[in-house]
Amino acid sequence: MNAYLENLFGLSGLVAVVTGAASGIGLGIAEGYARAGAQVALLDVNAERLEEAVLQIRAEGYDAAPFVCDISKAEDVRSTIAAVIERFGKIDILVNNAGIGMRSPAESMTDEQWLTVLSINLTGAFFMCREVGSHMIARQIQGRVINMASITAVVGVETGNANYAATKGGIVAMTRSLALEWAKHGILVNAIAPSHTRTPLIEALMERQPETRRYFENNIPLGRLGEVQDIVGAAIFLASSASAFVTGQLLLVDGGHTAR
Ligand SMILES: NC(=O)c1ccc[n+]([C@@H]2O[C@H](COP(=O)([O-])OP(=O)(O)OC[C@H]3O[C@@H](n4cnc5c(N)ncnc54)[C@H](O)[C@@H]3O)[C@@H](O)[C@H]2O)c1
Repeated sequence: MNAYLENLFGLSGLVAVVTGAASGIGLGIAEGYARAGAQVALLDVNAERLEEAVLQIRAEGYDAAPFVCDISKAEDVRSTIAAVIERFGKIDILVNNAGIGMRSPAESMTDEQWLTVLSINLTGAFFMCREVGSHMIARQIQGRVINMASITAVVGVETGNANYAATKGGIVAMTRSLALEWAKHGILVNAIAPSHTRTPLIEALMERQPETRRYFENNIPLGRLGEVQDIVGAAIFLASSASAFVTGQLLLVDGGHTAR
């Protein structure tokens, strides 16, 4: 990176926490942040894949560490964030990326399907914001929080995702309120909304149900699924000085999906 780009987009000297970092978009962002100069704490429930992800990043010569953490458990979040601060000294960037889907037609959705998705995608993201936000405020760190939403926060889908869509709408509303609450501390809070993005989860679904590929591609004017790298660029932008005057926003990275 030349000095001009380093000033705009570089993350040297910064510490980033990425949740759901063992796979897909989270792993891509953790790798992208490391390549942009940040030290990275990778959080996930999947200990085995997490270890592989960290080894992959370290193999490129970057500083990264794994933290097994279930973000839906407040106590887990508290002790994990304390451990991250002990390891890296501080946290400048939080990416709330961990999320799951449990599809069902709404009329037969179980209590468990509804509550589990809410507890990880929305409550877990809040627990992380609360813990890392209070660290940033106490240490006067003018940090960044980036929450992973989805196009389902903006447009309806008919694929049995009422629980998932509700969490993503909640993420966007929470992002705006936190941006206003924390503006006085210089903490910027934004969200990213990907459309269908090619991750192991989506690949597996398209293999099981080949018709879903056409459904996904037909939804997107650019005529292809999103790639993890499409989201990484947005996440670097929102963590870097290039976005120093951006807060409370939802950045749609959707190939035109919601422009219709
Ligand atoms: N892939 C897409 O098409 C797409 C589209 C829009 C939004 N998103 C959002 O992007 C994010 C990442 O999606 P992905 O496709 O990379 O998914 P993924 O399944 O590949 O990765 C999600 C990761 O989160 C982890 N995780 C699950 N529950 C957790 C918990 N309680 N605590 C900590 N970690 C947990 C999983 O172990 C996994 O490694 C999610 O928030 C998802 O809703 C994805």
